[in-house]
Amino acid sequence: MITVNCPLLDGNEKKYLLECIETGWISSEGPFIKQFEEQFAALVGRKHGIAVCNGTAALDAAVEALGIGAGDEVIMPAFTIISCVGQIVRVGAKPVLVDSDPFTWNMDVTQIEAKITPRTKAIMVVHIYGLPVDMDPVFEIAARYDLKIIEDAAEMHGQKYRGMPCGSFGDISTFSFYPNKHVTTGEGGMVVTNNDQLAEDCRSLRNLCFQPKKRFVHERLGWNLRMTNLQAALGLAQLERLDEFVQRKRRMGKRYSELLAGLPGVQLPLAVTDYAENIYWVYGLVLDDGLGMDAEEAMRRLADKGIGTRPFFCPMHMQPVLLRMGLFEGESYPVAERLYRQGFYIPSGMALTEMQIEEVAQAIWEVLQ
Ligand SMILES: Cc1ncc(COP(=O)(O)O)c(C=O)c1O
Repeated sequence: MITVNCPLLDGNEKKYLLECIETGWISSEGPFIKQFEEQFAALVGRKHGIAVCNGTAALDAAVEALGIGAGDEVIMPAFTIISCVGQIVRVGAKPVLVDSDPFTWNMDVTQIEAKITPRTKAIMVVHIYGLPVDMDPVFEIAARYDLKIIEDAAEMHGQKYRGMPCGSFGDISTFSFYPNKHVTTGEGGMVVTNNDQLAEDCRSLRNLCFQPKKRFVHERLGWNLRMTNLQAALGLAQLERLDEFVQRKRRMGKRYSELLAGLPGVQLPLAVTDYAENIYWVYGLVLDDGLGMDAEEAMRRLADKGIGTRPFFCPMHMQPVLLRMGLFEGESYPVAERLYRQGFYIPSGMALTEMQIEEVAQAIWEVLQ
């Protein structure tokens, strides 16, 4: 079986982990946390980095820190992961969706302005699968309507938009370090921001809002979202190789695109746009409606040949849990719906070999032709 993801952990990971064990620093108090936060924040040009236990927690803390509350509206893509809506709906705010661009698979930024109401507080941008959202129109709209930007850069380590690092665009931005990410800590996430108050709030929210003087007296409800020193040790070792990892992924993407070029009825990821070059967090395929096969069927046939795949995200307006809450009734986002029905991604892990890439491509030709 060629798995859909396999991380590469053959740098300093073992050495730094051993250091944690030998020194006994295994909780969130250890020295690697601060180093990881500082180095990661510097990498994306941010003043503050707040390491947390995963990318979902980073988004929850970001939404809470911005003070999004009952009745507020947040404009976001329909085509994304459930992590993006969690805290918005829990506080009684309303996620307001826009459809996707059919070529980049990111939110169609031309649809944002029409969704703004007096209750809109923020735009949540989510960079999907390897290409960033077209940020300039978002900056312009956010400035004109005085809206906050939450940037979910979970998949974008090492990516740039017009030469500026992803993760540097939100009032508050978030990352994930799950093992399928360009930098992994096993489980992990990071909030980054230039805003001192937001950073302080996120640090407090991450640590149950303990108070410095009266530790067990709480003015606000937080969570335990802390990252451990063990995870930060992994993260530091991974970060040392980020440039190499981005190059590896770009080579993988280019090779897949060469091998799959000319395959009828299949849309491949865009290699470049006028603002960014794809980093192929994952290598996605979208089948033409006329192919007579949907993603589920293609994934089943590929599994029979030992090729691991994952479906594309199920759009927010199709999530039973959200529909039961009375959200998105009668709403339709045709591009997102089609991406869900016809899209999936193929093995894209950091440790994927050239031979495996060729084997995967061969299997795809056999299944889809
Ligand atoms: C765009 C996006 N946001 C948030 C997350 C959540 O991150 P985590 O799995 O670390 O909670 C993911 C996870 O893959 C993601 O792709």
